[in-house]
Amino acid sequence: MKATSKSAHGKNSSSENSGEDLSSKLGKLFEDSLKDIYWAEKALTKALPKMIKNASSQELVDALENHLSETEEHVRRAEEVFKVIGKEPKTKKCEAMEGLIKEAEEIMKENDEGVMRDAGIILAGQKVEHYEIATYGTLRTFAQTLGLDDAVTLLDQTLEEEKNADQKLTEVAESAINIEAAHEQAE
Ligand SMILES: [Fe+2]
Ligand SMILES: [Fe+2]
Repeated sequence: MKATSKSAHGKNSSSENSGEDLSSKLGKLFEDSLKDIYWAEKALTKALPKMIKNASSQELVDALENHLSETEEHVRRAEEVFKVIGKEPKTKKCEAMEGLIKEAEEIMKENDEGVMRDAGIILAGQKVEHYEIATYGTLRTFAQTLGLDDAVTLLDQTLEEEKNADQKLTEVAESAINIEAAHEQAE
């Protein structure tokens, strides 16, 4: 690493926040966030099968199974994004996702199998999707700023699938579970 040199022209030059410096800092933040979501996606490929096993409604099982195969693709896509920036894929533990997965496990333990557990799985699942949507949305914006067009395309594909998964969970909640949960309460 070469030492940062002061501008040859001297006079109050502020090299600290030069465009080049900012873009290398943004590049570092981009890489760190990518490691974080790469860890999260891998963790989800293990968490989703447990949620599927605990779900009762066929519609919910189908939605989760579909998103499990998409999530496996998200892991591969994240690896492609690492390739775009010329780095080896590495994980960095995502504390937020670890917490969300723990929460999902608690909800499944605390609620009896059936409509209530299904409702809890949807709640936990949507929190996960929103975390992913926020992360991929920001990563895509960073990639745009950094001029990483191939990364933008990859991140966009995953972002769309996360949004669809979230939407699907809303539909499942609206169709069966909430109605049944309300009936159960009224009995
Ligand atoms: Fe994902
Ligand atoms: Fe997802």
